Amino acid sequence: MDDPKHDPHLATRTSLSQDMRSSLLHCPRDSWASQPGYGGKASFFLEYHALLRRGSLALRAGLESCLGNFQPGHPNAELDDAVRTGRQLLQAAHHHHAIEDASYFPAFRQAFPKLGSALDLLDNDHRILGAALDETGDALDRVQAQGEQRGLVALAYDRARALEHLINRHLDDEEDVIIPIFLHAR
Ligand SMILES: [Fe+2]
Ligand SMILES: [Fe+2]
Repeated sequence: MDDPKHDPHLATRTSLSQDMRSSLLHCPRDSWASQPGYGGKASFFLEYHALLRRGSLALRAGLESCLGNFQPGHPNAELDDAVRTGRQLLQAAHHHHAIEDASYFPAFRQAFPKLGSALDLLDNDHRILGAALDETGDALDRVQAQGEQRGLVALAYDRARALEHLINRHLDDEEDVIIPIFLHAR
């Protein structure tokens, strides 16, 4: 069970609970890059996570800039770029979660039963993230269809800002759970 004092919800937690941390394979983050197995799946996942972090930052920053420079009725190439960035992010994130859900997480559950609670948390994160990705996609659809409305750009920005927070929290915590697995199971 999670520490009742520690809210495990992705939108509000600030870290994994101490109970959950104590159930993980031990491998401190600052030692990962010097581990013999680092060059395989561990570094691949970290690089893909970095891509998702960069994409969510670029989407939020792009929409923030669009809002600052918004001129009603004017074609806005910056907005087109932000929408394109958002589409790439949504596709990459859905693709990544689908592989984790279908392949990696079930295999980890089987090989490391003591990680069940941590993997339950990550599964739940994926459900929350899936909804946030869909909401962001809907907002981008509306911007693309009626981009001359400042309120729609503001809505897309709000969704992108929320999504960036969720993605960063999830990836930080997921790495603490799964990177030690890759390093131990090489
Ligand atoms: Fe991941
Ligand atoms: Fe994930």
